[in-house]
Amino acid sequence: MCYAFPVRTGTPSRTALAAAAHRAAHQVLEGGRIFSDPLAVRILGQDAESVAREAEQNPSRGVMRIFIAVRTRFAEDALAAAVERGARQLVVLGAGLDTYAYRNPFGGLLRVFEVDHPATQAWKRERLKAASIPVPDSVTFAPVDFERQTLAEGLAAAGYEPAQQTFFTWLGVVPYLTEDAVWSTLAFVAGQPGGAHVVFDYGDPPETLGPEARAYHDRHASRVESLGEAWVTYLEADALRTRLLGLGFSEVEDLGPAQIAARYFPDRAGAQRERGGHVVRASRIPRRN
Ligand SMILES: C[S@@+](CC[C@H](N)C(=O)[O-])C[C@H]1O[C@@H](n2cnc3c(N)ncnc32)[C@H](O)[C@@H]1O
Repeated sequence: MCYAFPVRTGTPSRTALAAAAHRAAHQVLEGGRIFSDPLAVRILGQDAESVAREAEQNPSRGVMRIFIAVRTRFAEDALAAAVERGARQLVVLGAGLDTYAYRNPFGGLLRVFEVDHPATQAWKRERLKAASIPVPDSVTFAPVDFERQTLAEGLAAAGYEPAQQTFFTWLGVVPYLTEDAVWSTLAFVAGQPGGAHVVFDYGDPPETLGPEARAYHDRHASRVESLGEAWVTYLEADALRTRLLGLGFSEVEDLGPAQIAARYFPDRAGAQRERGGHVVRASRIPRRN
């Protein structure tokens, strides 16, 4: 997999920290109404007041905070449904400070592999220790620098079992990758012999956005670029669906802004724009004879 932005040796991802701060702020400011995470504030190592203060000083980031809450809720609901259907492994790709592994309600039934750049993963492990968050036996860390190692190699070294039905979460990563890297990862997921599900998020191409959404996009894109992690890949929903089906995924659920509003904010659904951020689940479960 090839990241479009140069990885700064030894430096943890700054966008991973920003995403974690949004999840924490959602707990404090909205009471975790969309996505409840009792560890989100703790793992940041800040108190609730400073989390709230920082978020309130940057009100324009509220849209991103809500989107991050929605994508995480969508992923965790889809994961729970997949476990019902037999998924027994979770791979958190580009995990950042995601806390699912430390509040995994399925315990030993669901093995969790956290895959991330070694520098970000080492920083996370320090954060977990500092926050006294125990690491359950069900968790395996798989440090992988995708510029040097493939996902297949990294997972094999961590004891991943391809024959088990597996759920992959891949949140907040696709926009930062080259399109080739996105498709090679999706092909890997689709090819898992035990069957697989993947949830990821992406944005509509900026040139297709209306003026308000475009202005918001441009502001946020400049911010992540200034952190050294630019957005480079956008996808078109129809073409994405066609290509996912072509890879062998038999179920594709893609929620754009209107569907997100209808599902998570029914009172405000009519006011939502048509284009912007999407969250997708694609599944391929082989038939058993
Ligand atoms: C925007 S963060 C998303 C983090 C997390 N999924 C979340 O939603 O909070 C992008 C992630 O990609 C990881 N990443 C960046 N470059 C990488 C590389 N070369 N190899 C492995 N992971 C990388 C970063 O360490 C970071 O955790």
